[in-house]
Amino acid sequence: AASPVHVTVTGAAGQIGYALLFRIASGQLLGPDTPVRLHLLEVPQAVKAAEGVALELDDCAFPLLAGIDIHDDATEAFAGTNVALLVGARPRTAGMERGDLLSANGGIFGPQGAAINAGAAQDVRVLVVGNPANTNAFIAAAAAPDVPKDRFTAMTRLDHNRAVGQLAARTGAPVTDIARVTIWGNHSATQYPDLLHATVGGRPALEVVGDDAWVRDTFIPTVAKRGAQIIEARGASSAASAANAAIDHVRTWVDGTPAGDWTSAGVVSDGSYGVPEGLVSSFPVTSDGGAWQIVQGLELDGFSRGRIDASVEELVDEREAVRALGLA
Ligand code: NAI
Repeated sequence: AASPVHVTVTGAAGQIGYALLFRIASGQLLGPDTPVRLHLLEVPQAVKAAEGVALELDDCAFPLLAGIDIHDDATEAFAGTNVALLVGARPRTAGMERGDLLSANGGIFGPQGAAINAGAAQDVRVLVVGNPANTNAFIAAAAAPDVPKDRFTAMTRLDHNRAVGQLAARTGAPVTDIARVTIWGNHSATQYPDLLHATVGGRPALEVVGDDAWVRDTFIPTVAKRGAQIIEARGASSAASAANAAIDHVRTWVDGTPAGDWTSAGVVSDGSYGVPEGLVSSFPVTSDGGAWQIVQGLELDGFSRGRIDASVEELVDEREAVRALGLA
């Protein structure tokens, strides 16, 4: 049998962790031929809850689950890991300033980046889910100078999937008919969900929709503010859909994007589309199973340019704040 792939999940006792771990262990992350060994990282006070989740994983008798280790130490949790899902983060609480939020998260993602640098497998792939995801990924990458920058990614696949869902609902097309949707910028309310190059059944999405006001006034804000709508309705933030997006992100990264399509991911910018080099920004990306590639040569209209610039400006501000705090 194949030797197990080591997958580390941080924040394993949280709500996304609970929706994510069973899917990983069932083979949905890496496919039906790949055994996985799980490494759960939690803060000491949540280790007991993580142990409870591990008991339930045992009770599923998943054929592909080759073992579970529970850690409260990042160096141990990331030793030899192939796939690192950084879910645990310090949430923003009422009245918390951005500087406080960034510094609390810098205290998590800096040391985790350093631990990945010190001991992860050569082929490690990192997905940051915990918010602010783009800047947390920036901090982790900065703390891992020996790991190629293209291994660090931030999750905007949930936004991407939300955009696909909204477009499918509006047009009545099955989601499988929708291609080339893009999320640009930050995983925040400033993100730009973009249909300019999207297609529905091979036809330009904007033509199929035929209603620019809907795109601007309904589609974009619905996608960008969906997280708040979920909290309002459910009384808790998105968890199963976030876990699903994390699965999709890694699965697409490892398996590759379908021919003629792309997805969205926060990746370290190489300067494409005027996004300053080094920022972790969402782009249209393809994968051939190796590294993500930013889709090149897309023409942008003035509206798109303005929306991308506004979100990227927020990322620049976050980077400045992180640097001012000495976190990267
Ligand atoms: P949660 O609060 O239910 O769970 C977070 C868990 O992380 C807790 O068990 C906590 O003990 C743990 N944790 C905190 N610091 C840690 C550390 N240093 N090491 C290991 N574990 C640590 O939160 P939930 O709902 O699971 O969300 C997790 C994160 O994902 C949040 O930051 C949330 O904002 C973010 N998120 C991101 C999305 C995206 O699209 N990028 C979508 C939805 C949520």
